[in-house]
Amino acid sequence: MLSQKESKMNILVTGGAGYIGSHNVIALLDAGYNVIIFDNLELGHIETVETLKSIKSEGSVIDFVKGNLLLIQDIESVFSKHKIDAILHFAAYSQVAESVKEPQKYYYNNVLGTLNLLNVAMDYDVKKIVFSSTAATYGEPEYVPIDEKHPQNPINTYGKTKLMIENIMDDYDRAYGLKSVRLRYFNVAGADSQNRVGEWHNPETHLIPNILKSTSDTGKVFQMFGTDYDTKDGTCVRDYINVEDLANAHLLALKYLLDGGETNYFNLGTKEGSSVKEVFDMCEKVTGKKFPVKIQPRRAGDPAILIADNKKAKEILGWTPVRSLEKSIQTAYRWEQELSKRLAN
Ligand code: UFG
Repeated sequence: MLSQKESKMNILVTGGAGYIGSHNVIALLDAGYNVIIFDNLELGHIETVETLKSIKSEGSVIDFVKGNLLLIQDIESVFSKHKIDAILHFAAYSQVAESVKEPQKYYYNNVLGTLNLLNVAMDYDVKKIVFSSTAATYGEPEYVPIDEKHPQNPINTYGKTKLMIENIMDDYDRAYGLKSVRLRYFNVAGADSQNRVGEWHNPETHLIPNILKSTSDTGKVFQMFGTDYDTKDGTCVRDYINVEDLANAHLLALKYLLDGGETNYFNLGTKEGSSVKEVFDMCEKVTGKKFPVKIQPRRAGDPAILIADNKKAKEILGWTPVRSLEKSIQTAYRWEQELSKRLAN
């Protein structure tokens, strides 16, 4: 429960119309914060904003600003209109393969966009930010589970942009007193338990929605990338963290900063690894369907195993993920059905 002072706080959420951002907006509203969504709607959806605006939560206010982090005047317009207390920064491009093909696009949008945001924030004396970082900053794992002491040697441009931003935030702390919490996500999965928002990418590259989309009805066949890895069943192992558990970690990170916490960084994962085959089998179990599958060669840049050591987030933030992979698949499936209905209309 928030104190009266905290519940009146205005939290700026960049990328609030996207997958992870939208679940965080709901968590913030439920916790009693006022939310200002900033999104250029390139990857986020106006329908998501409408849904978020329709969520009635006692006493909290929600505002939406369509704007671009590459345009200083757009960012200024938010800070001059609202007294911002803290920022949750999600807005970014996040496709690993695309980032390698088009590094210019990624450095420009992710790094420069964040610099613009930080610079305006400094001008307005806003010095608390929770940042959406990634396991991709670690690169090829030297050991698993990966803890926060693991060296950060990203092997793709996406991971490099996120690491650069982490480094920029450290320098801004030393020079200007910016306090940041960097949350390094492993594989985010699932959807809102009330089915209001969920994963909505075009094109979709992620494992669970791609399995769920491959039905005989649509003729879409699921492509399983690589069955010859040195893992329990030959397919890649990942740590699937539920998106609502992830949003909870952001609330705790925000509270940590509002309570005067120093700059810090945490892995967000479950410490459980599931193989692609196990996820596939679980999708069939949850849906009661058989999904067509085609075995393909390995996808470039996929490490065999990525599992998070989440002890630090547990100890310092008091965070515990509680939702299972099965729960993530159940909610993702419900959302997938909702989304295909919407897209058909
Ligand atoms: N996979 C398939 N078929 C598909 C999609 C995925 O076999 O259609 C496999 C992949 O090859 C991989 C696993 O499923 O082995 C998971 O792939 P995802 O694309 O769902 O997720 P990634 O592990 O590649 O990447 C995710 C995020 C990145 C982040 C990374 C950090 O999408 O942004 O986790 O761990 F950088």
